[in-house]
Formats: sequence, C-alpha cells, structure tokens
Amino acid sequence: MREAGRIVARVHVAMREAVRPGISTWELDQIALGVMQKYDSVSCFLGYRGYPAHICTSINQELVHGIPSRERILRAGDIISIDVGVKHRGYIGDSAWSYAVGEISEEAQHLMRVTEESLYKGIEQMHTGNHVVDISRAVQKHVESNGLYVVKEYTGHGVGQSMHERPQVLNYVGGDADGQLPLEAGLVVAVEPMVQVGTWLTRTLKDDWTVVSKDGSLAAHFEHTIAVTNAGPEILTLP
Ligand code: MF3
Ligand code: CO
Repeated sequence: MREAGRIVARVHVAMREAVRPGISTWELDQIALGVMQKYDSVSCFLGYRGYPAHICTSINQELVHGIPSRERILRAGDIISIDVGVKHRGYIGDSAWSYAVGEISEEAQHLMRVTEESLYKGIEQMHTGNHVVDISRAVQKHVESNGLYVVKEYTGHGVGQSMHERPQVLNYVGGDADGQLPLEAGLVVAVEPMVQVGTWLTRTLKDDWTVVSKDGSLAAHFEHTIAVTNAGPEILTLP
C-alpha cells in the first residue's frame, strides 16, 4: 500500500506541474495515465460502475466525479479538484487535491485552505485508542468554525485491495455508520473532506457522474490514504 500510495503522489506531482490556463481536462487525464503506466499501475476509477476516465476532474462548483473532456479547458481563476486512485500489485491508493489555476479569488483561497487544513485535523486524530468518529468530529469542527459547509452525501472509506472497504469515514458527527469502530494499527482509510461555500447540499448532473453544489457555490476536495500505526498516522499518498 505504501508503493501504491507513492504512485498516486507521483501522479499528483505531475498534475501540479500541468495545471495551467489553456490545458484541457482530457490532457490532464492522459498525463495521469502516463504516470500510472510508467509505474506499473492502473486506474481504479476507469470502469468502476462504468466510470469512463482515469481520474476525476471537478472544476469550481463541481465537487467530485467530474469527467475529463477535450472540451473542458482550464481558465485563470478556476479551481480544479483532481481525484486519483491507482491499483498496484493488488493494492490501492486514493488521493484528491484541489489546485488553483492562475490567480484565484480570496473566497476560493479560503475554501481551499480550510478544506486542506480540515483533512490534516482529521489525520491528527488517527492514533490507536481513538475511534473513527474522532476523525469526523475534527473535520466538521474545523470546516464549520470557518463558516463553510461539509458535504454529508459522500464520505471517506477504508481502502485496501478494494477501493471502498469498511469503515465508512463521515466528515460530520451524527450519521450512525462506523463511528464507534476503534482505530487499530494496520487499518488504512481514505479521509476526504468535501467542502462547499454556500450549502452542504449537492446534486448530480445529467451525465450521471458530475456532482455539483446545489447552489452553484465553489467546492473543494482534499483526500489522503492513511495507515494507522503504533507510531501514529502514516500518510501513504504524501508526495
Ligand atoms: N476518491 C473517490 C472515492 O473515494 C473516487 C471515486 S471516483 C469513481 O470514491 F469514478 F471511481 F467513482
Ligand atoms: Co476516496
């Protein structure tokens, strides 16, 4: 899983270098595919429930699951969330980052900063003795105390030989899912706060994939795959 995570991180390094005004999301998909192939891995999104691309590229009010396309060209001022999942020698790594395209608004900067911080607040909770809900609580508290909204309709998840395993990792407290599960050494989860400026509600576009904020406000998504160890959390998808 460390190796799979490292490959995901390499894809993100390539994305960070490639994101600029004028590039299409299809080109980003092709660059990501090239890195996956170079390191003997495959996308675990391609073909998942019929998903048609190697990565997800979600722009501005798009939260998750945006489909790369030759027609979607990045422009200065956009933010783009890129989600990458690979399988390498049977194991999966999963990580998403939001990137700024050129100069972005104060509102967009604030959204991206708070969402990334909330991911790390959640990760800080990942030591033995704690429970899954401690991650959820830390994420929610940081997002809401900064005046933003945490999406409740999508969640983090255990990850291993499948992309989605138990436990479900909510970004808020209150759903009864797997919150009481203890965090034990060897458990690996993907923590992935999804945050919006104006509402926690979303809707799905007619392509049946792209999830957008219901009010059209900006959305951001940061995700890492993290292992619980006796020495604390180990982020497997860190560049
Ligand atoms: N990071 C996302 C997840 O945890 C990736 C799913 S995209 C899909 O579910 F295309 F595979 F659905
Ligand atoms: Co995920």
